[in-house]
Amino acid sequence: MDLRVAVFASGGGSNFQALVERARQYRVAFLVCNRPRAGALERAKNLNIPAYILAPRIFGDENLYADAVLDLLHKENIGLIALAGYLSKIPARIIGEFQGRILNIHPALLPRFGGKGFYGSRVHRAVLEANETVSGATVHFVDEDYDTGPILLQKKVPVLADDTPDSLAARVLRVEHDLFPEAIHLIAQGRVQIQDRHVTIHSPADDH
Ligand code: GAR
Repeated sequence: MDLRVAVFASGGGSNFQALVERARQYRVAFLVCNRPRAGALERAKNLNIPAYILAPRIFGDENLYADAVLDLLHKENIGLIALAGYLSKIPARIIGEFQGRILNIHPALLPRFGGKGFYGSRVHRAVLEANETVSGATVHFVDEDYDTGPILLQKKVPVLADDTPDSLAARVLRVEHDLFPEAIHLIAQGRVQIQDRHVTIHSPADDH
């Protein structure tokens, strides 16, 4: 059976849509969103993917929120969680149970321009303020901290002299839309191994 993926998103949801439309050897089972007006919800409706609005503040207690999310993940037989612009911290219990099975996409070349507070246009503004000539996108495994987990895939994107945070964000997003499905595809094919925080990608023919 195909790997079943739950996508968590808080914003426009363009990565969520790319994950649905470019799925090979995995299936997006549902979307979890923590904001009732997020664009991702509209996309889920158009794509016919079930969506759940779940946020710690709705439950008033992080443990109850973690219970609800875990119930859903178990009931739907989820093998992988994809954080696609999800701006709420994932409770430690979920990270513990889904160790090595939660991926996040970040719009820069980690470990640079990552960490708490580095999300969306803030990342691109910081890249431009640092006069970087290259930025990019990173797909990494999630650990208990912000943006520090083992890196699975990265791709560089040029920064142009007249870039604004918006123009850079758009160029990086186009790369993200290929990179995230590619990363999940590698996992679905069983080609990814993590050992001592080190990621190995086996070639299709490798016997491992
Ligand atoms: C993406 O650029 C993603 O990398 C970024 O939010 C954007 C969401 O766009 N995530 C972070 O900054 C996480 N630190 P989308 O809603 O259109 O997919």
